[in-house]
Amino acid sequence: MTELWLPDVDATDALGARLALTRPAQAVVHLHGDLGAGKSTIARALLRALGVQGAIRSPTYTLVERYPLAEGGEAWHLDLYRIADPGELEFLGLDGAEVRLWLVEWPERGVGALPAPDLTIELSMRGPGRIARLHPGSSAGEAWAGRATPGHEVAGHS
Ligand SMILES: Nc1ncnc2c1ncn2[C@@H]1O[C@H](COP(=O)(O)OP(=O)(O)OP(=O)(O)O)[C@@H](O)[C@H]1O
Ligand SMILES: [Mg+2]
Repeated sequence: MTELWLPDVDATDALGARLALTRPAQAVVHLHGDLGAGKSTIARALLRALGVQGAIRSPTYTLVERYPLAEGGEAWHLDLYRIADPGELEFLGLDGAEVRLWLVEWPERGVGALPAPDLTIELSMRGPGRIARLHPGSSAGEAWAGRATPGHEVAGHS
């Protein structure tokens, strides 16, 4: 687990951009945290750094927003806050085969209907800023967290 102090929104944006630059070819990210913790901020920074131009809409009502990537494939940004049951996700008939990057807000509401995370990012408020905890869920995710946060890696896992 790697813990980072994000004193302001610029620090959250910078973390998103570093994660984009260092990402593996295929990755699933679960974003945990209370309302307003900064999940969408990180997702938007990642998508911007991947070259997405124009509006990055919140998927709160659509559940998923899809973005084609220059390299091919797509990045998907999901926000499952409003789903009542993970079955609603299967109802959308989402085929994730071409998805290079999953960014999932409120993944706890889609349990059983989502791919397992390579990286779980847990955001919490502290004073005027945020704490980000990176929990790798795979060896690819562990290497990614190390690349994205050089010098921050903490011994031991959780
Ligand atoms: N490190 C930070 N320090 C202070 N404020 C921050 C930081 N990172 C993000 N913010 C601010 O916190 C708010 C977070 O909003 P955001 O929409 O990203 O939250 P969210 O976790 O996606 O919430 P929701 O569950 O409602 O989707 C924004 O106003 C953003 O500017
Ligand atoms: Mg959000």
